[in-house]
Amino acid sequence: MAEYQYVLVERDERVGIVTLNRPAKLNALNTQLVAELSTALEELDRDEAIRCIVITGAGERAFAAGADIEEMADKSPIDMLTGGFEAWERIRRIKKPLIAAVNGYALGGGCELALHCDIIVASENARFGQPEILLGIIPGAGGTQRLARTLGKYRTMEMVLLGNQISARELADLGLVNRVVPQGEHLKEALKIAKELAERPPIAVRLAKEAVLAAFETPLAEGLEAERRNFFLLFASEDKREGMRAFLEKRRAQFQGR
Ligand code: COA
Repeated sequence: MAEYQYVLVERDERVGIVTLNRPAKLNALNTQLVAELSTALEELDRDEAIRCIVITGAGERAFAAGADIEEMADKSPIDMLTGGFEAWERIRRIKKPLIAAVNGYALGGGCELALHCDIIVASENARFGQPEILLGIIPGAGGTQRLARTLGKYRTMEMVLLGNQISARELADLGLVNRVVPQGEHLKEALKIAKELAERPPIAVRLAKEAVLAAFETPLAEGLEAERRNFFLLFASEDKREGMRAFLEKRRAQFQGR
């Protein structure tokens, strides 16, 4: 297993937990942290014993307060192009469900990291935002696109052009946060959802995630095709046979991920 400086990796039953671990800097995402995070997620994605992955931040104050401004301050476009930013693409390609357990600040890249996840759980003190505009730049890890597809044009414009922070509760009302829980309960709640997800047939979960994400990337006709292909494909799985048999035999299904 890889050794990490800025992330912690734990396994709780069939759930992988990756903690961004740079609390003195509010878990600011420097290049090494994002590379380590991508590697850790890929490792858990390959691990057959793991069915779901939770991402959270160390400390009381932040999920992640954005890309590391100190590291970026003197960079040129070519430094950015060649400096490992594509690690974000590796996070985008993770096939298992990702749950963000957000406490405190999820700003800039921290907000974008939450947007890479499939379910977002937040403590009531969580604050989301894309404050890049205040630094003279814009989001670069998908913020403008994923927010626009989730919140629509007008709320996204407000977030991205003004750069203000928004509470978890407000984002829950807008459909971006799944659950808001009392402060400090975010990880517990995320693990509860993750363990429930771990009970589901993993191949179906993988193909369901892929189908939902296709809605963000394709015209409707193409997305419907993608869904139909995955739907048909699942009829080849042992889990489909087990799931339907168990229903008919009035017992609990035992899914093997085959
Ligand atoms: N990059 C680098 N360091 C950061 C950081 C970031 N994005 N966000 C916070 N830090 C560091 C601070 O520099 C400080 O380090 P220091 O103690 O060595 O000086 C430490 O984390 C604590 O942050 P601080 O600013 O002192 O806390 P605060 O409570 O006063 O403010 C925030 C909290 C989140 C409002 C403030 O840190 C902030 O605005 N951060 C930047 C957010 C941002 O613009 N993100 C997008 C980047 S593209």
